[in-house]
Amino acid sequence: EKPALIDPFQRAITYLRVSVTDRCDFRCTYCMAEDMEFLPKRDLLTLEELDRLSSAFIERGVRRLRLTGGEPLMRKNILYLIRSLSRHLESGHLDELTLTTNGSQLQRFARDLAACGVKRLNVSLDTLDPDKFRHITRRGDLAGVLAGIDAALAAGIQLKLNAVALKNFNEGELPFMMRWAHERGMDMTVIETMPLGEIDEDRTDRYLPLNQVRRSLEERFTLRDIPYKTGGPARYVDVAETGGRLGFITPMTHNFCESCNRVRVTCTGTLYMCLGQEDAADLRGAMRGSEGDEALHRAIDEAISRKPKGHDFVIDRATKRPSVSRHMSVTGG
Ligand code: GTP
Ligand code: 5AD
Ligand code: SF4
Repeated sequence: EKPALIDPFQRAITYLRVSVTDRCDFRCTYCMAEDMEFLPKRDLLTLEELDRLSSAFIERGVRRLRLTGGEPLMRKNILYLIRSLSRHLESGHLDELTLTTNGSQLQRFARDLAACGVKRLNVSLDTLDPDKFRHITRRGDLAGVLAGIDAALAAGIQLKLNAVALKNFNEGELPFMMRWAHERGMDMTVIETMPLGEIDEDRTDRYLPLNQVRRSLEERFTLRDIPYKTGGPARYVDVAETGGRLGFITPMTHNFCESCNRVRVTCTGTLYMCLGQEDAADLRGAMRGSEGDEALHRAIDEAISRKPKGHDFVIDRATKRPSVSRHMSVTGG
């Protein structure tokens, strides 16, 4: 047995997010700039390398694995990786294998994902209005995503909708979306927008603290704090009127870093110890340098020993520049 991953603040790292591609078929305005430049394909880890990397973390006590992007289902042959990783579910070394997706490809993938042991998916959806959806994603098609959601539900996968709360955009629609999600047996979380990477819009115009969202929901619904835990940063309530669950992810107003259990790797094998910090470690070099995994494990240990206490999100009022220059699509949140 290899030793568990414990960081300098005594937090155990049991949750790994793996971004399998930086590409996406959408260009959500809070996530990307209109004219994103993506990595050349030759810089990507192969699917075998992504498996090797993920498996090394599982050896070190990671129990939940979440594939992200970009859009993870845009990665060529992604099912090959998912099928291969599912061996860790069967052997009992992994509790959960899941994805965060924009839903655009779910019609095509839902059944195969379920067959690979994917029991839960998080789907990003910020509005149920087709025109607003097109505006926020710049090129997405709402009908395709809704069909994907139906396909996933039909395949027996439990869904959580992620809505980034955006002032003067979906603020007024969130209660309706929540009811819609709960009627279909889905959880929903609302998220405060985080300042990562330069985008074309001014984030300060869109930022909405979730205590406002909660207050306006409480005018219509009875929310009760519950101890439901997914291992993620959301704090959940249940909603008496719908019988559903609603989560709040509040990186800006209520920092959840002290219970952080996660790190993330990108599709080039860069390990980020915190979403809201620039510090990173190159695992690709450590992996490609030798056949065995000793160097890789050493690089992982060295990186975890540098995991920072928490994130450092600030939007500079004067320059309006985010403190973290990489885009959300590099690490997939
Ligand atoms: P589960 O709890 O397993 O359902 O997943 P999750 O909510 O952690 O993951 P998801 O990919 O659905 O992300 C939802 C939101 O949480 C996104 O906006 C992520 O960027 C954000 N998020 C996830 N992990 C972290 C984290 O460690 N720090 C910060 N600041 N945000 C995070
Ligand atoms: N702030 C908060 N959440 C974001 N996401 C993408 N960009 C941001 C941002 N700037 C969310 C997406 C997706 C998840 C992985 O991260 O909506 O659900
Ligand atoms: Fe793509 Fe998700 Fe980023 Fe939107 S938020 S551009 S769907 S990766």
